[in-house]
Amino acid sequence: MTTAQAQRTGPTASAGAGVPTPTPSSPPPSSVPGARQAPTTREPDHGGPGGAGGSDPASGWKHRHLLGLQELSADDIRAALRTARSFADISTRSIKKVPALRGKVVANLFFEESTRTRVSFTLAAQRLSADVVDLGSSSSVSKGETIEDTAHNIEAMGVDALVVRHKLSGAAALIARNVSCAVINAGDGRHEHPTQGLLDAYTLAEATGRLDSLDFAGLRVAIVGDIANSRVARSNIAALSTLGAEVVCIGPPTLAPRSLESLAPGKVRVEWDLDAALPTVDAVNMLRIQFERHVVDPSEAKGPGAGPAKSSPAFPSLREYVQMYGLTPERAAKMRPTAVVMHPGPINRGVELAGDVADGSRSVILKQVANGLSVRMAALFLCVAAG
Ligand code: MLT
Repeated sequence: MTTAQAQRTGPTASAGAGVPTPTPSSPPPSSVPGARQAPTTREPDHGGPGGAGGSDPASGWKHRHLLGLQELSADDIRAALRTARSFADISTRSIKKVPALRGKVVANLFFEESTRTRVSFTLAAQRLSADVVDLGSSSSVSKGETIEDTAHNIEAMGVDALVVRHKLSGAAALIARNVSCAVINAGDGRHEHPTQGLLDAYTLAEATGRLDSLDFAGLRVAIVGDIANSRVARSNIAALSTLGAEVVCIGPPTLAPRSLESLAPGKVRVEWDLDAALPTVDAVNMLRIQFERHVVDPSEAKGPGAGPAKSSPAFPSLREYVQMYGLTPERAAKMRPTAVVMHPGPINRGVELAGDVADGSRSVILKQVANGLSVRMAALFLCVAAG
C-alpha cells in the first residue's frame, strides 16, 4: 500500500472512541519534513506519514520484512528515519493515535526477555490503530512446538505482522521464510536489532542537528563494551557506516576483536584504549556486558532470580573491566563539550556506565527510548502498509 492509499483508507472511518473523525481537508501532519506548521489547536489525523502537499518520506521503501540493517541501502535507512520523523509528533498529542494500520493485526512473539522493545512495539502498533497480540514464553514453544509452527499458527489467525525476538541468531529470518505476513526482527541472538540501530541513528541525527540531511559524514562514534556479543553493535555499525559516520569499536580484545573491522571496511576501526579515543568522538554508545551470551563454567551457572552474572572468561574481573572501560564522570569529562552519551538499556549502573553519567547532561538515553516509539511506528507502517 502506498502512503497515499494509506491516507485514503485511514481516514474513512472513526478510529475509535475519542479519536477525532478526520476530514478530507485535514492539514498535513506538522512533522512532515519540509511541511512544518505553526502549532494549531487542532490535531491533524492522518493515515500514514506525509500528507496533502507534503513529500512522502516512505516513498521508495520496498521491503516486506525488517530483518537487519546490513542489507539496507542508505536510501532505505533514510526512508525509515524520515518516516519515523513524520510520526514523531503523534506521541506529543493529547490523543496519541492515527488510523494508518486500522484493521491490521500485529503479533509480538518475544521468546527472550524484553522491557523497552516489547512495550515500544506494543505502543507503536496501538498508536497506528492496529490490534496487538502479545505472545512470549507462554507460547507452545515451551511444549516443544517449533518456532516455524508457532508462526504458521499465529499467521493463520489473520496476523499482518510478526515482531520476533529470539535468543538464536537468524530466528526472525527463519520465520520470514515460512510466513507471508511481514516480519520485524526485534533482536535475534548476537545478530541484529534493526529498530535499535535505527533509533540510535535517529537520536544521533537529532543530537548533531542532522535530521534534515541524515548525512553522517564527518561524525565519529564510539561503541564501547561487549561488541562481539552485541546485536545492537552490529545494527549500529551498519546504520552509522552506511550514512557516512566513522565507527570506533572499543573494548578488551576478547570483546572487541580486530575482525570487527571487516563489518564495514574503511569505516570501522577497533581500538582498545578508551581514554585515548574519548576526546575524539561525537558520541559514545555504551554497551552492557552480555553475560548471558558468554560461555561460562557450568558450575558458576546461576538460577532464576539470582541477578546479573558478575564474571566472564572474557576479562579477569568486573573490577578490572570497569577500571578500563567503564564510563565514569572523570572519563566523561574528557569528551568534547557537545559529545553525547548513549546506551541501549538495560543499564548496569556502575559497570559500563556510572549513574551520574547516565543521568547527566550529556545523556540522550531517554531520548533514545522516546525515539524508539516513532522508529517502531515507521517499521510497522513501512513493512505492513508500504512494503
Ligand atoms: C538488546 O536487546 O540487545 C538490548 O537492547 C541491549 C542489551 O540487552 O544489552
